[in-house]
Amino acid sequence: MENKVAVVTGSARGIGKSIAEKLAKDGFRIVICDIMEDEVVKTAKEMEQFGTKTIGVKVDVTKIEDVEKLFEETVSTFGSVDVLVNNAGITRDTLLIRMKESDWDAVIAVNLKGTFNCTKAAAKYMMKQRSGKIVNISSVVGVMGNVGQANYSASKGGVISLTKSAAKELAARNITVNAVAPGYIETEMTKVLPDAAKESFLNLIPLKRPGQPEDVANVVSFLISPAADYVTGQVINIDGGMVM
Ligand SMILES: NC(=O)c1ccc[n+]([C@@H]2O[C@H](COP(=O)([O-])OP(=O)(O)OC[C@H]3O[C@@H](n4cnc5c(N)ncnc54)[C@H](O)[C@@H]3O)[C@@H](O)[C@H]2O)c1
Repeated sequence: MENKVAVVTGSARGIGKSIAEKLAKDGFRIVICDIMEDEVVKTAKEMEQFGTKTIGVKVDVTKIEDVEKLFEETVSTFGSVDVLVNNAGITRDTLLIRMKESDWDAVIAVNLKGTFNCTKAAAKYMMKQRSGKIVNISSVVGVMGNVGQANYSASKGGVISLTKSAAKELAARNITVNAVAPGYIETEMTKVLPDAAKESFLNLIPLKRPGQPEDVANVVSFLISPAADYVTGQVINIDGGMVM
């Protein structure tokens, strides 16, 4: 993977950071990008320990100007964009009847529109190169729905449909687009869940443990490797068997 370039959104912490670490170990040049400016700098610096070249870029994926600049900077620094992992995501959980318009809009803007913005901007370069691999981080909730997550589940279901449409449109240019649907993964995002919610997730998991960010990173690493050259438009659940 030497000289190949991977952009991972929302990679200052959590699952995104773990994916960036795994891809750095795989030999990719890494672009850390996130809305949290200080953490972007810190995480990009940490990547140096893996001996790969890394840049950190502050980006709000909801803003197309930010996203276009991100890929311009990526290509001017490293010469190409070979991999995009759309990982940036947020939650604003509450019951449907209490959900404010702003809760709905914020989650759709980051999780769904952000994925669209980055895919569109990266595809421009990948189409010229006639190669590329895109992996979108959806969620099992985008497949099965969840109480208190109407906005989040709609955004993640949308990401699955976007994945399939993009896979069909971009296949002719040798670009694969796949999604992963993690279940309950231990990160800052799930730390705030009430104990009862964590317990009820655990009861649904045949493997009887929460997932770790590395469980997601390993599958992403496979999907962008040559071993997955003939895989596109797929959704792989990473959930200890929660949904099957
Ligand atoms: N943790 C889980 O159980 C779980 C399960 C399924 C899916 N996911 C998905 O995995 C992804 C990563 O989640 P996580 O658990 O690591 O959460 P996290 O909150 O630790 O990380 C999300 C990252 O996205 C960044 N981000 C948020 N808004 C952004 C924006 N507008 N522009 C750029 N970056 C932005 C945040 O700053 C943060 O660094 C998300 O898409 C999430 O929906 C997580």
